[in-house]
Amino acid sequence: MILPRTPSFRLDGRRALVAGGASGIGLGAAAALAEAGAEVMVASRRGDVVGAAVEALRQAGGKAEAMVLDVADIEAARAAVSAAGPFDILVNSAGLARHSPATETAPGDYDAVMGINLRGAYFLAQSVANGLIAAGKPGSILTISSQMAHVGGPERAVYAASKHGVEGFTKAMAIEWGRHRIRVNTICPTFIRTPLTEPTFERPELVAWIKEKIKLGRTGEVEDIMGAVVFLASDAAALITGTALMVDGGWTAD
Ligand SMILES: NC(=O)c1ccc[n+]([C@@H]2O[C@H](COP(=O)([O-])OP(=O)(O)OC[C@H]3O[C@@H](n4cnc5c(N)ncnc54)[C@H](OP(=O)(O)O)[C@@H]3O)[C@@H](O)[C@H]2O)c1
Repeated sequence: MILPRTPSFRLDGRRALVAGGASGIGLGAAAALAEAGAEVMVASRRGDVVGAAVEALRQAGGKAEAMVLDVADIEAARAAVSAAGPFDILVNSAGLARHSPATETAPGDYDAVMGINLRGAYFLAQSVANGLIAAGKPGSILTISSQMAHVGGPERAVYAASKHGVEGFTKAMAIEWGRHRIRVNTICPTFIRTPLTEPTFERPELVAWIKEKIKLGRTGEVEDIMGAVVFLASDAAALITGTALMVDGGWTAD
């Protein structure tokens, strides 16, 4: 009997762009992809932090390069991706949060969150896909979305709107780009300890709410996301596109 073989989780020879890759979930994604053999381009606005991440990745034995990138500057980002690409893998992890009660949301905060989480992620996916299509190569595009793409939460109307939007473009792009063998998916984490969530973890009433909602009884760490990134980037997920992988400890199960 000939047994079926598990498709490879290795990423040797693949090139990955990780936007927001010098901190938090993005740094975890960069480390995971490098460990799986990919050559990783770490990209965000702060060149010193990006440089430190690249140095750490190289010291761990990975292949890494630095890119200073502001995903809000669509034209500059497009030019940077075109010059450095094509990238077989994109992880959109650049993001921010400006939480407030919906009655008090300031237009500037709305624009800032939408501008990075939704508009920035959208156009970076477009740039990477256009590079792949021009090169005739398959690829895997991932956006770090959120459980807040599937439920709401207090003081999270803008953030949830931005992440629900991410799920929409992910499905639509998957439909358009399937014929190019470009897969488009999201990863939807629950609360993960990163610089982004420090203000939330400092509020005991929010920590109590979070622990009550997460069925596995603990908040997340960056390491909880790393396997999902490698899986969806790899040939092990070859038939997975247009969908969301919940990494939420069961938050959205009820
Ligand atoms: N932590 C969580 O609990 C959680 C849960 C669900 C989803 N997420 C999502 O996961 C993603 C990463 O969050 P995180 O928690 O890892 O936060 P983080 O540690 O603050 O990392 C976000 C990174 O995005 C980069 N960034 C921000 N604006 C940018 C821009 N205009 N252009 C390029 N890079 C930009 C920042 O680097 P620079 O300042 O150098 O640009 C920052 O290092 C976000 O989309 C977030 O919404 C997080």
